[in-house]
Amino acid sequence: MRMSRMFFGWMLSAACAAGLSQAQTVAGVPHLHKQGNATQLVVDGKPFLVLSGELSNNAATALEPMEPIWPKLVASNLNTVLVGVSWAQFEPEEGKFNYTLVDGVIAKARENHLHLVFLWFGCWKNGTSSYPPYWVKKDYVRFPRIQIGAGKTVSISGPVELLSTLSDATRDADAAAFAALMRHIKEVDGAQHTVLMMQVENEVGVLRDSRDRSPAANRAFAGPVPAELMSYLEAHKDNLIPEFREVWAANGFKKAGTWEEVFGPGKPASLEIPIQTFVSILGPLEHENSWQHLHWPSDEIFMAWNYARFLEKVVQAGKAEYNIPMYVNAWLQQPNHAWPGTYPSGGPLPQVHDVWRAGAPDIDILAPDLYLEYFDNLCARFSRNGNPLFIPETSTNPANVIMAVGKYNTIGFSPFGIDGNRPIPPDLATVYGLLNQLSPMILAHQGTDSITAVRLNQGDPPKQVKLGNYTLTLTYTGRSAHVPPQAKGQVVASPDPSPSAANPEPPLEAAAILISTGPDEYYFVGGGMRIDFTPNSPGPQNVGLGDVQLGNFVDGKWKVTRQIAGDDDAQGEILILRPFTILRVTVYRFP
Ligand code: DGJ
Repeated sequence: MRMSRMFFGWMLSAACAAGLSQAQTVAGVPHLHKQGNATQLVVDGKPFLVLSGELSNNAATALEPMEPIWPKLVASNLNTVLVGVSWAQFEPEEGKFNYTLVDGVIAKARENHLHLVFLWFGCWKNGTSSYPPYWVKKDYVRFPRIQIGAGKTVSISGPVELLSTLSDATRDADAAAFAALMRHIKEVDGAQHTVLMMQVENEVGVLRDSRDRSPAANRAFAGPVPAELMSYLEAHKDNLIPEFREVWAANGFKKAGTWEEVFGPGKPASLEIPIQTFVSILGPLEHENSWQHLHWPSDEIFMAWNYARFLEKVVQAGKAEYNIPMYVNAWLQQPNHAWPGTYPSGGPLPQVHDVWRAGAPDIDILAPDLYLEYFDNLCARFSRNGNPLFIPETSTNPANVIMAVGKYNTIGFSPFGIDGNRPIPPDLATVYGLLNQLSPMILAHQGTDSITAVRLNQGDPPKQVKLGNYTLTLTYTGRSAHVPPQAKGQVVASPDPSPSAANPEPPLEAAAILISTGPDEYYFVGGGMRIDFTPNSPGPQNVGLGDVQLGNFVDGKWKVTRQIAGDDDAQGEILILRPFTILRVTVYRFP
């Protein structure tokens, strides 16, 4: 075993020296690939769009109760499932690994033609440490906990059961277990590629105080900012995330010093924010940008560095065994949660992405758990500086997957709790089905200017987008749009009624992916809007609808299910994309 690992290591270095990543040298192994400004997941040599859902945390801690779940996932058109692996179950005794659950989940996924992303619930899950094995939990000398100040960020009583990042023993134990997991996955799946990616830990960060105040942490905090971080910042000075750069700029772009000298003050240990203040600020959501700056910056930056360094070692240990894409996920700062500690301080939030990049270059993706209503804004914030977008947790809004795929080039979308508390609703299942069919075309266009997506809510003014040779005007029509027979010159829309006792359904959130596939040809997927064309070049300015086809892709081939004309498009004058459908449309120009 030792020899073969050494040989593998040698092959890896040789490949890297030749400018190839390990993944590229091993046929078909999942890896990331850049296409234009998009980053895609490539599996078995082809780009793959992850249309997924995440199981609730403990759903796969036994195989039998999962039996009725698998067919439901398939019926909802998922192609991938995100499944937690608990360190406690995987390594119940130090050095003894139990592969039963991992193997069982892989077997069931294959049986159901599903892919997997495993979530390594190691040292941390939602800030705290509830998934490490008993032998770790009870040994708080070998595996030290963080300490929080006398004055906490939020004075909820009780200790914080949270392993400290400042312990090599903890890091090495986590890394050894993760390496064993990756070694096993390679053995059982290195050829078949059911497992696409790994999430490493879950929503890390310090809760209830802005940083770890254990003696080891205090010593590190009083010492200099590590040279590796300083030189990364110097090298990337002009491209740093703006809200992070502001912090460094405010302290004169110092090239060395303690954390507080370089990044500004941390929270005084004794300063306590009373729970009443905390609760009273949980008022209505403020504007989406109003809370996005760092409070007590050196505390959050210090913690981001320490989590990143710790996880870099864990990821390196895993990738040395089997190199597939790996990501970490962020518990996002809620509007009005200004202080680090009310959200996990040091987690991979956008304001500290540069610190994570510097500290953990082997982590491929910094991912948002995106439940906030400012969905598009956060997709954009998580796409800065080339960070690939992957959304491991979210809600089930179909408009969001349409936007994430069509506009923000996401690698995947994955509502949380799909086995039970938040199953995939029919509209999302339909949209997943359509995106699955269209994914080869979507993926071929991602990263270019021939694809985009638009979202419209009831009451929004029409939106215009320039795409291919035409400017498209998108007007909200909603769920119940119809085309009156004599519609010439009218804007036709019968927007959804407001919710009432008779009609409890909220108005549809309209969304569509728009793809320009030729000089006069488009595919649209989604629904709830009218689409009008204006030429964006000289020549005849009137546009007629040529072929308008409703259809599906079957085995990659377009199959028309209805040719649209006459009453269905106001005698050729009005095009409506009904929820949720795929339309192929050709247009022509006339004087
Ligand atoms: C976010 C966490 O990452 C999940 O594991 C789960 O705890 C959900 N919150 C619960 O809403």
